Amino acid sequence: MMDRRHMSYFLTGVCLLFQLQAALAAACGHPGGALVPHTWNGKSYGCKCYFGDECWPAANEWNTLNTTVGGNLAVLVPPESACHTFFNGTLGTIATYDAAKCAVVTANYPREQWINDQDATLMWKYFTNSTCVPTTDPSTPCTPGYYGTYVIRATEKEHIKAGIDFARRKNLRLIVRNTGHDFMGRSTGWGALVINTHGFQDVKFVKNWSGPGGYSGSAVTIGAGVQGRALLRQAVAQDPPVTVVTGECPTVGIAGGFVQGGGHGPLTTIFGFAADNALSFDVVTASGEFVTADTQTNPDLFWGLKGGGPSSYGVVVSASFKTFAELPSAGATLYINSTLTTNTTLFWEGVRIFHSRANYFVDNGLYVYFSVGPGSLRVRPFVAFNQTAAQLEAVLAPLRADLTAAGVPFYSAPAGQYATFFDLYLDLFEDESAGPPTLTSGWAFGRVDIDNNNDGIIEAFKTAISPRADLLNQGYMVGHLFGAGHNSQPAGISATNPRFRAASDLLLYLLPLPADATLAQKADIQDLLTNTVDRAMKDAGPNGCAYVNEADPYQEDWQNHFWGPSVYPRLQSLKKTWDSDGVFYALSTPGTEQWDVIEDGTRLCKRL
Ligand SMILES: Cc1cc2nc3c(=O)[nH]c(=O)nc-3n(C[C@H](O)[C@H](O)[C@H](O)COP(=O)(O)OP(=O)(O)OC[C@H]3O[C@@H](n4cnc5c(N)ncnc54)[C@H](O)[C@@H]3O)c2cc1C
Ligand SMILES: *[C@@H]1O[C@H](CO)[C@@H](O)[C@H](O)[C@H]1NC(C)=O
Ligand SMILES: *[C@@H]1O[C@H](CO)[C@@H](O)[C@H](O)[C@H]1NC(C)=O
Ligand SMILES: *[C@@H]1O[C@H](CO)[C@@H](O)[C@H](O)[C@H]1NC(C)=O
Ligand SMILES: *[C@@H]1O[C@H](CO)[C@@H](O)[C@H](O)[C@H]1NC(C)=O
Ligand SMILES: *[C@@H]1O[C@H](CO)[C@@H](O)[C@H](O)[C@H]1NC(C)=O
Ligand SMILES: *[C@@H]1O[C@H](CO)[C@@H](O)[C@H](O)[C@H]1NC(C)=O
Ligand SMILES: *[C@@H]1O[C@H](CO)[C@@H](O)[C@H](O)[C@H]1NC(C)=O
Repeated sequence: MMDRRHMSYFLTGVCLLFQLQAALAAACGHPGGALVPHTWNGKSYGCKCYFGDECWPAANEWNTLNTTVGGNLAVLVPPESACHTFFNGTLGTIATYDAAKCAVVTANYPREQWINDQDATLMWKYFTNSTCVPTTDPSTPCTPGYYGTYVIRATEKEHIKAGIDFARRKNLRLIVRNTGHDFMGRSTGWGALVINTHGFQDVKFVKNWSGPGGYSGSAVTIGAGVQGRALLRQAVAQDPPVTVVTGECPTVGIAGGFVQGGGHGPLTTIFGFAADNALSFDVVTASGEFVTADTQTNPDLFWGLKGGGPSSYGVVVSASFKTFAELPSAGATLYINSTLTTNTTLFWEGVRIFHSRANYFVDNGLYVYFSVGPGSLRVRPFVAFNQTAAQLEAVLAPLRADLTAAGVPFYSAPAGQYATFFDLYLDLFEDESAGPPTLTSGWAFGRVDIDNNNDGIIEAFKTAISPRADLLNQGYMVGHLFGAGHNSQPAGISATNPRFRAASDLLLYLLPLPADATLAQKADIQDLLTNTVDRAMKDAGPNGCAYVNEADPYQEDWQNHFWGPSVYPRLQSLKKTWDSDGVFYALSTPGTEQWDVIEDGTRLCKRL
């Protein structure tokens, strides 16, 4: 008997003869529905199927899907619609006004956990197109913008499979949405079928991992929807208490975009990326198969899921990670702001001195989270896992001495001692609120860049804060000092960019936009971000790289900046192996070069 791979190889040959005859595709065993021809800006495309196209599934087909997913299919109605008389959706207009619900939505709108718990709402509204927002005027329009059309609130892996199969057979745009944190809008898509994975909340700790991979220490298996702080809270409650590499952010998911982009956090200097610590994944593939990916079964897929790009090779149902003994830790903060000085020369001198010590902090085992706004440096916190307050004080002493010698005023209370890292995490990391429409980009500076050109990097910071004469003091930055290579995690252990291991500051920089920005204004700010701010960062840090989850998706040569020449070609071929027809798509991920979102951010199409 022919196995699956050979069978599809054989059929590919046969089907090539009928390539243009969509009707025959299904008969030939072609796994997907046919692309819909479109022309835009003089180019020919084959597009996903959208409402209004002949291929759009009929009501009875949606009903059948709904039955398959246990009644968990819903028409996607944005919660903000409660503040509007009507939601003019893709499928028609519905009356939505509900004063009480509107009050709840308005009050919760900036709260990250509330957003994460919705069907599809994004943290960063830019990629939603902001076409339905909380308001006191119900007569204002509420339309889907760049949100999907239907959502499956998946609670079983069979629901995920049903969604993938339906999207593949019907050639629909498919979106996987976990928490909605993605900065680049990768968890939303116009007119899409959305699979929401937030319902997968199982957590199981084991003391001795017995799976493959030559690892026999403690581990945890988590469902796709589990979030950082919730996982750390359960980990510290184990006997003995353990911890896990999560993000600094309490609500970012772990098994979705985070690990699939690499995943850095407060423990990365000690234990590496989240991807480095993954032991196994349970996955539903583009063809609807349930597979395991670990060092022995589908090792290529295993490697790719560890930093090779979100929503690219399959949908993760659950993932297993190493856990580590919880240990006493020390933390500290440092602030320079306008209460102390409004002298900008002095302020930037303070930032320069702080940043010049990035490699030194990492070499001393620290992780440091900081933000820079106009006239304000906020370092909160310095994290010293498995160190005492006295040790951290000793590490910070030269920084404080340098600042004092330069006459830079600062606040910095003595380092605090915590019984566990989790106590520190709760005390010093803050909840993050959802932002207004913002364009986000980022760059990871190499250790050599900081050694050789810290002053140049600080000049680039100034560009990010004031990128243009009409946008003085409009920018904002968030930095993370860590060293994923500090404890010699070898390159190749995961699909992260090897350059990322030799970096010690991952910097994010944000530019705000008005909520009602026109397409021309959006294009202008994107151009400024890419060609002025990104440019300044890259020129100042030529040995750096970009982080898959926190960067400008529209930068040129993203393949090289995200993954580099030793990793990218392998990921491209992985995409061909596991999703040759493009059932999955996320902006600027491996093997998507032929795909464009055309017609002003709406239709997903393949260039013909
Ligand atoms: C406030 C904030 C703080 C952050 N802090 C950190 C940090 O400390 N460290 C860090 O590394 N990153 C951080 N990030 C970035 C974060 O890693 C990304 O936003 C990441 O994409 C979030 O993944 P998610 O699954 O929670 O979010 P989503 O937006 O729901 O999904 C992100 C991407 O992953 C895909 N995806 C989700 N679930 C699955 C699944 N089960 N299978 C396949 N694909 C899936 C989605 O389709 C989408 O492409 C932060 C982001 C924000 C907004
Ligand atoms: C799916 O079925 C459930 C339960 O019967 C129902 O409440 C829901 O409205 C259905 N969804 C759609 C899109 O019809
Ligand atoms: C939405 O539908 C209502 C009712 O049909 C209509 O009055 C209104 O003009 C529509 N709004 C938009 C933005 O299309
Ligand atoms: C998105 O917003 C732009 C304005 O920036 C508007 O012109 C366009 O019609 C909107 N598209 C959708 C699908 O909401
Ligand atoms: C787990 O492994 C440790 C050390 O390898 C061993 O001492 C212990 O007995 C094992 N525990 C179980 C439950 O197998
Ligand atoms: C400056 O930082 C200190 C210490 O956190 C804080 O008390 C003060 O309010 C800050 N000043 C401004 C203007 O933010
Ligand atoms: C700001 O600080 C710099 C450096 O200490 C000093 O040279 C300069 O005179 C100060 N400017 C003002 C306006 O005080
Ligand atoms: C914690 O610190 C001790 C003493 O310095 C060291 O021996 C041990 O390896 C450290 N543990 C980890 C996990 O870093």
